[in-house]
Amino acid sequence: MSCNGSWVEVDLGQLRRNAAAVQGALGSTKLIAVVKADAYGHGLARTAGALGRFGVKHFAVAYAAEALKVRASAPEAELILVLGVARGGDVARLLADRIMPVVVSMEQARELSAAAVAAGGRLGVHLKLDAGMGRLGFICPDEVGEATAVCALPGLKVEGVCAHFSMVEPERKPAMTRGQADKFLRALPVVEAAAGGRLFRHMSSSRAALLLPECDFDAARAGIVLYGYGAGEEERRFRTQPVMSWKSRVIQVKRAPAGFAVGYYASYQTATPTDLAVVSCGYTDGYQRHLGNRGEVLAGGRRCPVVGRVSMNWITVDLGPDSGVKPGDEVVLMGRQGGEEIWGDELARHCSTIAYEILTGVSRQIERRYVGE
Ligand SMILES: Cc1ncc(COP(=O)(O)O)c(C=O)c1O
Repeated sequence: MSCNGSWVEVDLGQLRRNAAAVQGALGSTKLIAVVKADAYGHGLARTAGALGRFGVKHFAVAYAAEALKVRASAPEAELILVLGVARGGDVARLLADRIMPVVVSMEQARELSAAAVAAGGRLGVHLKLDAGMGRLGFICPDEVGEATAVCALPGLKVEGVCAHFSMVEPERKPAMTRGQADKFLRALPVVEAAAGGRLFRHMSSSRAALLLPECDFDAARAGIVLYGYGAGEEERRFRTQPVMSWKSRVIQVKRAPAGFAVGYYASYQTATPTDLAVVSCGYTDGYQRHLGNRGEVLAGGRRCPVVGRVSMNWITVDLGPDSGVKPGDEVVLMGRQGGEEIWGDELARHCSTIAYEILTGVSRQIERRYVGE
């Protein structure tokens, strides 16, 4: 049954090029592909599976349930790391599927330890240090002593140590940026002495991988740059391009006279006679209401303004008087058409948000089509 809806195209060829660009810049440092939030909206199973085929062996997710999907899609993965707080009830599956959680507190460590002992296994974990993010983990330096005590718990094997930057601004805020790296570096010998050897160290996410090569350590956890944002033309260490396009179709075209009111509360009126296209897509799909009277789409190879308010399932677009666009024609909400392009960072600017929220906000109900591999 047709629903005339929009769809997402995920360009796996571009994903492969992006992963190769990031891994190429990192050299011997491992790339940990961050695939949480349904691989930033690209679809977890297919994206992780493709990255696995492209040679990526390290993955990170937020939840244990996501980690199981990665194991099923990328069975050869050497590391699947849960960045959120796994609980005792997860441990049997984590052991069975060779998944490692981070440990963020002594209370969580004791719970995982007890569950691992009960399951008769030894669970590999990474210690999560809070070096300035102010979110999960043992606060540096005050709680580093507590973090070392995790190494002595039965049923756990501390294999890695990590932290997360709250900002990476080596030029605008060098002291804040460097201070966080320094806190991490000062904690390393203390936790590694307790662990009885060198641990797998990682701190950088995309922006640090791009701007702070001195913080590569053993691995970098890259998310947004794999999906093509944050490393555009002006960047030097590596460049990536967007992977996700979002498309729909015109479902009605009408010739409107001058002074014609469009949509709820008549927030737009045509200035001159023009063609209006109704396009199948609305805020229920993740096309944000902020885009009404602000955003543009590509139709007939040209940029056309979204006019009036975005409604639940439809938007209206001003085609101009001579576009030749007709019902059934493809409309690009995000992506390329003709010589034009509109990407998630442009939509994000209109919505006062970041490309991460645009990508992860495209409804999971919308079909993902995988192309280009
Ligand atoms: C702990 C952690 N590491 C890495 C990442 C990846 O960040 P980015 O997408 O900026 O590379 C995230 C993303 O939210 C994160 O929370």
